[in-house]
Amino acid sequence: MKAASIYRLALSTIVVLVNVCPLIAETQCIYWKDNLLQMHCNCSFRGFRYIPVINIQVKFLDLSNNEIQIIQNSSFEILRNLEELDISSNKLNYLDKDAFIGLIALRKLVIGNNYELTYSIRSFATSLFKPLISLEYLDITHNSRTAMDVNFSKNVLSDLVALNSIGIDLIGEHDTTSVIGEGFLSLTKLRTFIAGYCDISFDNKTFINVPYLEVIELEDCSFEIYSLGTLRKKKLRFLSFGGSGLDILIEDNVHKFMIMIEDFGTAYIETLLLTTNFGMLQCLPSDFFLRLNGTGIRHLILNENSLHEVTIRKSYKDPIRYNSILPVTLRHLEIKNNVLQTFKVSMPHLSRLNLERNNLGYFLKYNRYSVTDTLNLTDINLSSNKIDRLHASIFHGHTHLENINVSNNYLTDISFNISHLIWLKTLDMSSNRIEGFDETTMKTLNHLFENSNLQIDLSNNTLHCNCQNVPFLLWIFERNTHFPLRNSMSCEFSNGSTNLRSQFKRTVMQLKKECTSYTALEICLSIAIMGLLITVFGGLVYKYRWRLRYIYYMTRSKYKRNIPDDIDGNYKYDAFISYSDNERNFIFKECIPILEGQKHIKLCIHQRDFLPGEDITQNITNSIHESRKIICIITRGFLDSFYCMFEFNMARMESIYSRGGRNILFLVFFEQFRHQDLSLVMLELIQKDSYIEYPNDEQGNAIFWKKLGEAINKGQ
Ligand SMILES: *[C@@H]1O[C@H](CO)[C@@H](O)[C@H](O)[C@H]1NC(C)=O
Ligand SMILES: *[C@@H]1O[C@H](CO)[C@@H](O)[C@H](O)[C@H]1NC(C)=O
Ligand SMILES: *[C@@H]1O[C@H](CO)[C@@H](O)[C@H](O)[C@H]1NC(C)=O
Ligand SMILES: *[C@@H]1O[C@H](CO)[C@@H](O)[C@H](O)[C@H]1NC(C)=O
Ligand SMILES: *[C@@H]1O[C@H](CO)[C@@H](O)[C@H](O)[C@H]1NC(C)=O
Ligand SMILES: *[C@@H]1O[C@H](CO)[C@@H](O)[C@H](O)[C@H]1NC(C)=O
Repeated sequence: MKAASIYRLALSTIVVLVNVCPLIAETQCIYWKDNLLQMHCNCSFRGFRYIPVINIQVKFLDLSNNEIQIIQNSSFEILRNLEELDISSNKLNYLDKDAFIGLIALRKLVIGNNYELTYSIRSFATSLFKPLISLEYLDITHNSRTAMDVNFSKNVLSDLVALNSIGIDLIGEHDTTSVIGEGFLSLTKLRTFIAGYCDISFDNKTFINVPYLEVIELEDCSFEIYSLGTLRKKKLRFLSFGGSGLDILIEDNVHKFMIMIEDFGTAYIETLLLTTNFGMLQCLPSDFFLRLNGTGIRHLILNENSLHEVTIRKSYKDPIRYNSILPVTLRHLEIKNNVLQTFKVSMPHLSRLNLERNNLGYFLKYNRYSVTDTLNLTDINLSSNKIDRLHASIFHGHTHLENINVSNNYLTDISFNISHLIWLKTLDMSSNRIEGFDETTMKTLNHLFENSNLQIDLSNNTLHCNCQNVPFLLWIFERNTHFPLRNSMSCEFSNGSTNLRSQFKRTVMQLKKECTSYTALEICLSIAIMGLLITVFGGLVYKYRWRLRYIYYMTRSKYKRNIPDDIDGNYKYDAFISYSDNERNFIFKECIPILEGQKHIKLCIHQRDFLPGEDITQNITNSIHESRKIICIITRGFLDSFYCMFEFNMARMESIYSRGGRNILFLVFFEQFRHQDLSLVMLELIQKDSYIEYPNDEQGNAIFWKKLGEAINKGQ
């Protein structure tokens, strides 16, 4: 004892000597004041081996990462304002009994990461913490990794009557009760328990001395032994089994994990965090949700695991679809950063669902994630899931949806139905592959915008700056209150260059102008081309009008009357007489009696031989086709008559197309004509001598009829 005090005296002398030595600039602490004018002092990473002199007004003192080994009596005596003290990551091995004397305002103390510090009176003098009447938070984790002394809690910790939260290593050589020993019973305000190093067996005695706990964080525990009853009847706001400890357990025996889940079912747990626990587990045990049903769970966090599927799965033992129904009390489910390929559950009571960073792209293309209507879901996060298209009715039945996050996917448009989501506030589509929306999407959104302040985030998409997309780009400007981050959207031209965000507006306006003139040019050009085409086509039609008509009528008559082709010379009529009505008398008084009566030529006279009930044009074409020769009685009336000219032209066509170019037309000039009164084709016929003039005197007439008869019979 004496030797020890002499040793300490000598040590303090050295410390004092060092203390009076002039300090080098670098070893000075840094002082600063925060917004509330509270003084902070940062003495970390300064190589201190002792506690330096600190300004009396300091409220926050950081002494971490130095080389302090011993904290002596009265080291902080004057710091009556100090509220937070960090002495972690030093080389502490002993704290004197009166080390903390004077720290009556201290609320938070961190003495972690001092690997020589043990949970015993060798390191912590008895009643060391007695002066810390305000201490609420104590962190003494990650120290020597030796087992806790049986009396440590009773002799050292039990004085911290104000303590609300403790972080401590759980290393157990002794029976489980002694780890969190009797001394803890005095800490009536203790609510939060955080394990640092953690290697003990858990059973119904482990937490017996901490009956008021609300938060338990066991993140680095090995759980080699975990027995039913550990959490029985605990009322926990937060229970965390994060960290990687469970991996080993799962590898060993899934059964242990089942026991753990069964144990959860015996407690009340508001929030359960099971992260990086299921290293080996690709799907949840079949009774997982069923067990949690009894816990009153509201938040379930299963992030950073390796789950492949959470879905309807019939249990071998029980046909009830265990995993398909979430606990009824559950409001918030997170399964971030797993490898989910399938997710489909019944979630009528859930209000927030976060499935970001999974692999659901393929599944959600063809499926919905909810079995039933999700009446209470307000938030859904499907960010980073390699989604290129979502099932059209994916959000059906989501009557209260407020936030959709589909950022960081491969979407190109809003192809899923959102028209019924009247409460929607945000739609995060950032970092996708959207070049523009199509018209239907814009229409749907216009409709939604009418009654809501929906905000759509399109940042980090490369919109297309081309003429087709101008309506979309302009639409975004018109609706700018709904696209809050539109300045961070970029726009790519057809030539591959991307414009800067700040010039976006100017670029779109310029593009609009360019495209308008371009469109005008386009319209003019198309009109010109159309005009040209119409002219050419019209010209062709005009040029071949008779040919076309002839073909048209011949085709029609073939279908209707099916006349045998008389190319062999057996015509129904010898001649078709085409005349204008003014020449009626001539036809009936002279022509018919002479040609039919005397010369036995069979004539086709429209007034006499046309089939009643048939179209006149059709009658004409058929009769011409059935006559060997066509005689036109050319008068002024003939030239002025539509039907006469029709007959003339049809006869021409007949000769070209059905008679192998043989001349079947014969003109009779009933009057005198000047050449310019006649059409070119008629002049052509005159040149071919296929005409005769009506002399209108008795002698001449006899020759005329003889000649005409010969002309008709020629080529028989
Ligand atoms: C103190 O300074 C160190 C670097 O010198 C820094 O890393 C640390 O965060 C600071 N601590 C506080 C509480 O500001
Ligand atoms: C610190 O104070 C306690 C009692 O207040 C005393 O027993 C102990 O010897 C002191 N330590 C040193 C190194 O002076
Ligand atoms: C939805 O939430 C409201 C309020 O949070 C609650 O009153 C209602 O019962 C819930 N409905 C369902 C089906 O869970
Ligand atoms: C996921 O989406 C929800 C709803 O939009 C949002 O509240 C949450 O912050 C998102 N997650 C992250 C990590 O941003
Ligand atoms: C959507 O999720 C991404 C990625 O998790 C996140 O960065 C973003 O803030 C979220 N958006 C909203 C509106 O919460
Ligand atoms: C691409 O086209 C845009 C608009 O037509 C123009 O402003 C830009 O200078 C062009 N960039 C290149 C590299 O040609």
